[in-house]
Amino acid sequence: MTVAYGLRDVYCGEINDGHVGAVVSVCGWVARIRDHGEHLVFVDLRDHTGQVQCVVEKDLNIRPEFVLKMTGTVSNRPNENFNEKLATGRLELKDCKIEVLNSSEPLPFPLNSKVGVDESLRLKYRFLDIRSDRMQKNLRLRHKIVQTIRNSMSSLDFLEVDTPLLWMPTPEGAREFLVPSRLQKGHFYSLPQSPQIAKQLLMVAGIDRYFQIAKCLRDEDLRADRQFEFTQLDLEASFVTQNEIIQIVTSVIRELFMNIFGHEPEPIETITWEEAMSLYGTDKPDLRVPLRIRDLTQYFKDTKVNALKGVSVQALLLKKAASISRAKLDEFVAIAKRNGGKGLLWIRVTEDQNGLNLDSPISKFLEDSDKSALINSLNPEVGDLILIVSDEKLLSCQILHAVKSFAISQALVDILVPEDQYRFIWVTDFPMFESVDEQGNAVAAHHPFTMPNEEDLDLLLSEPLKVRSSAYDLVLNGWELGSGSVRIHQRDIQERVFTALGMSLDEAYDRFGFMLNAFRFGAPPHAGFGLGLDRLVAIFANEPSIREVIAFPKSQSGIDLMTSSPTAVDKKILKELGIISGEKAGGGTKVKDGETLKSEVSN
Ligand code: AMO
Repeated sequence: MTVAYGLRDVYCGEINDGHVGAVVSVCGWVARIRDHGEHLVFVDLRDHTGQVQCVVEKDLNIRPEFVLKMTGTVSNRPNENFNEKLATGRLELKDCKIEVLNSSEPLPFPLNSKVGVDESLRLKYRFLDIRSDRMQKNLRLRHKIVQTIRNSMSSLDFLEVDTPLLWMPTPEGAREFLVPSRLQKGHFYSLPQSPQIAKQLLMVAGIDRYFQIAKCLRDEDLRADRQFEFTQLDLEASFVTQNEIIQIVTSVIRELFMNIFGHEPEPIETITWEEAMSLYGTDKPDLRVPLRIRDLTQYFKDTKVNALKGVSVQALLLKKAASISRAKLDEFVAIAKRNGGKGLLWIRVTEDQNGLNLDSPISKFLEDSDKSALINSLNPEVGDLILIVSDEKLLSCQILHAVKSFAISQALVDILVPEDQYRFIWVTDFPMFESVDEQGNAVAAHHPFTMPNEEDLDLLLSEPLKVRSSAYDLVLNGWELGSGSVRIHQRDIQERVFTALGMSLDEAYDRFGFMLNAFRFGAPPHAGFGLGLDRLVAIFANEPSIREVIAFPKSQSGIDLMTSSPTAVDKKILKELGIISGEKAGGGTKVKDGETLKSEVSN
């Protein structure tokens, strides 16, 4: 298909040797003006593909960010004027005729500044910020990722189906955004936290394989990896097992990787939730960090040292970290306590005339058997630091993970986390419930339609915290990228899960009746997955926050700094919607002015 260039003959960044000698028109924004004397000025004209140098007569009264059409002859630059950093750096447009298509006021901040611009200013003027190379690159990468995913899903026989935004509460565990109904006063639609229920109904409806690049809405505290509105690659398939969903998602990731980076990703390992917690102390391990927790419990069964006597003894060996200051080690201990532990034991591995020496607040209590247990199990070298937490196993591992993350973020350890490495890992067999509340009811870890592992079904009501589920997460570089599960399609199991959750069947039917009823009409076995697209793009773009890959994101406190929304609403409208009956609501002014929100964005 030929490109419709409109007012121009070619894009700025695409001018090449083949154009030399031709008279062409380009359009774009003035990136830079340089006056080289001799009645000539050099204007770098920029569009979304790059920029080209245009040589024009002096005194044209143009300024940066003016919108121009330049018509000139493509020529080779003299050797000494080559700019090897630009694709068009050996060429220029000579004897240019300028048409000013629009003027521009000076921008509130420089585009492509190396020093960095305050993010709240960038968000207030997002329409300018998106002109920058960074945002152009990110949004184009996002587009390419979405297109590749769409193609992969179609070629795997998945059908793209839209699901409603005005909907009913969905059970993902976050707070929902509500939309008042004008026609049904006092009633509200909920914006979907995900298309979870709709896609399961599409399975009952015989769609077989569904996907959607779906908008999801959750009213939760915002962070670098969370927005109110975000996008998922959402998918569901009938008559498939957990392994097939994992294979499908893995093949989509593989194709994506090939398309974006030109090579295959490293093979994706699968570990269980329990293994992840034991080895890394988190269910979101970052495999770029080569640090694993070691279980030393068996070595200290008979120790007399209190700090090594807990129900489990978990250790982390930090290479070349013995020089970490006492103040920082005290911070490690404080982190352990903040995370619910009794403390943390640190041991510096030093050297004396007898060989390795273990230097620690409990040195004098360590017996030879303790020392040789530590040395034989961990094999430390002089200059290493050993961290030990002796508590319940899960808690000990979680504490070591928290301390490890702190040490890395503060560059206290000799580990460089490579930015251009992408390490995926599948984590399976998540616990079905994450805790039991004060009333003795289990609290679902995923959503209540997740299938318990078959061999744990009998524990559902007696020992819910032991029940594992057919739920799986995909993790990339320490971020939860997506999660999914095999769904319950049998009514009796679903009813038992509701009972474990402390939900009466009346209540369950009240909330999800239409779905449970639909399941009476031949629901096929099915399973699915939801992958956070914003997170995927941010990681592939090496960006620290998903805000950098969303065109118009909200600030940290949930405000759109560009439009200053949310805004107060005229009380006439509130009355119409049945939100107020009397005279109480505020006027139609804006909540806050974007200018006053300098510190909105910090994370
Ligand atoms: P879950 O709630 O785990 O599962 O969400 C799936 C993925 O969506 C992304 N995500 C977010 N991204 C940005 N901002 C947020 N506020 C946010 N919340 C979640 C994450 C997460 O892993 N319906 C199920 C999926 C399924 O079972 O099929 C679901 O939504 O990357």
